[in-house]
Amino acid sequence: MRIQKAVFPAAGLGTRFLPATKAQPKVMLPLVDKPIIQYVVEEARDSGIEQIIFVTGRGQRAIEDHFDTSFELERVLESKIKEASDKKKKAELQHMLDEAREISNMFNVAYIRQKEARGLGHAILAARDVIGNEPFAVLLGDDVIYSKTPCLKQMIDSYSRYKCPVIALERIPKESIGRFGVIAGDCVDDRLYKLSGMVEKPKPEDAPSDLAIIGRYILTPEIFEILANLPPGRSDEIQLTDGLVELLGRQVIYGYEFEGRRYDAGDKLGFLIATMEYGLRNPELSDEFIDYLGQMDIKSICGKELPKK
Ligand code: G1P
Repeated sequence: MRIQKAVFPAAGLGTRFLPATKAQPKVMLPLVDKPIIQYVVEEARDSGIEQIIFVTGRGQRAIEDHFDTSFELERVLESKIKEASDKKKKAELQHMLDEAREISNMFNVAYIRQKEARGLGHAILAARDVIGNEPFAVLLGDDVIYSKTPCLKQMIDSYSRYKCPVIALERIPKESIGRFGVIAGDCVDDRLYKLSGMVEKPKPEDAPSDLAIIGRYILTPEIFEILANLPPGRSDEIQLTDGLVELLGRQVIYGYEFEGRRYDAGDKLGFLIATMEYGLRNPELSDEFIDYLGQMDIKSICGKELPKK
């Protein structure tokens, strides 16, 4: 069965990014010129997803507004296009209008309100009725992945071959592995691992491998029954990783070490690195930005120097 639906759990409180996230969802922070979540939604679109389901919480109306039609904005842009005297300005405004329209026409979107943020597993369970009895994708908005073939598409290709759940993996240095779910498993094909266990945020010395779970999953609907009956785990939350361990007792699960560069855009340093690298790739900005970087005098800014390579 084709993967047509994708769940975007977005109800987290964004505590790693306070106070910026006190009154706005962290996935709405802009990465150069688009909110973080739009990069992830575009990845889903480019992977063939047809319907997206946002699981949101209090204070996250901005996500709904962003993916909705904005009549006021469209009217303003339309009249500016009419008034614009030179061709270049007209084309720029038309491009803005096309982009604004594309965002709201991108998908069939559903919103589910998660009343309490009780963990990733709980958020996914909230999408049960909309997903029904079919395999589906989950994408976490914090993880922005830059790649030639969209990360989710790479995973869907594996799913199409094996018809089993597939989760994204990345090798992470030991000192940081405790921030992730970590897998145990054997490599069975190029980049593909057959999983034998998973643990959520272990102490680095207890981690079963250096392969961390990244925020992209293809799941089968059997996960819902498991999540519905799962007791709270780490941090007193319903953990998806615990649900996957249970699913592993019933189905084969694969991990896929995706090709691409991941940014942890939900973390201050990760966000800064992502802003910098997406800025460098942006055709409108890259020349001037590179000039600026070439002249930048770090010492005069913060009194420190670049480490020698
Ligand atoms: C979640 C998952 C974790 C996974 C991570 C990837 O954790 O629980 O297993 O490694 O996403 O981003 P979170 O970062 O939401 O705490």
